[in-house]
Amino acid sequence: MEQRWIDQWNNRYSQEAYAYGKLPNAYLQEQIDKLTPGLILFPAEGEGRNAVYAARRGWTVWAFDISQEGQKKALQLAAEHHVHIHYLVGGIETLDNMPDAFDAMALIYAHIPPDLRSAYHQALDKRLKPGGIIIFEAFSKKHINYVTKNEKVGGPREPSFLFSLDEIKSDFAHYTFLELQETEIELREGLYHNGLGCVIRFVARKNNG
Ligand SMILES: C[S@@+](CC[C@H](N)C(=O)[O-])C[C@H]1O[C@@H](n2cnc3c(N)ncnc32)[C@H](O)[C@@H]1O
Repeated sequence: MEQRWIDQWNNRYSQEAYAYGKLPNAYLQEQIDKLTPGLILFPAEGEGRNAVYAARRGWTVWAFDISQEGQKKALQLAAEHHVHIHYLVGGIETLDNMPDAFDAMALIYAHIPPDLRSAYHQALDKRLKPGGIIIFEAFSKKHINYVTKNEKVGGPREPSFLFSLDEIKSDFAHYTFLELQETEIELREGLYHNGLGCVIRFVARKNNG
């Protein structure tokens, strides 16, 4: 992975304020509150707002991200809430040092480089139990029109980093989508997600066998 990409995220997280706030993403909160707590993984989890929320709800939480500064802020947030999370610094290879089978995974604005994306999704899939749940929210290809009108809404400016419904359906072909939407939403998340944006969000269950 390019060092410049890692540095970019470390810079963003090295300030005192939380880039996307300390509160969980609204969709993650709404969906996770419907599930029975178990073992959950948060890939590309940044400063830990979602992971810490899950831990507060009784989940056993694992997370990873390429940013060491993100890890520091996440562990600090966990300490503020008197909960524990396991958080490894690195990419998909960190899975080698994690439990084999998760009950759930939450990909929240996990805008990883496009050349890695499908391999990431495949590797994550191998670690999700049959019947396990994925909760997902991230900016869609249509978001380009929103971020060019209002840069405060944030998100990648490079279309290849944004998600399309077709790619999602293809990467998660052996899942049953309990819901799948491409929708406009108003974001109020910390310093970098403010205003109208366009996202893809879904909840999907991995098919048995
Ligand atoms: C927009 S932030 C989202 C952070 C967090 N999920 C949240 O919702 O607050 C995207 C995150 O992806 C991480 N990231 C980018 N490329 C990655 C990769 N190849 N592997 C793991 N994490 C990556 C970045 O470090 C950053 O923390």
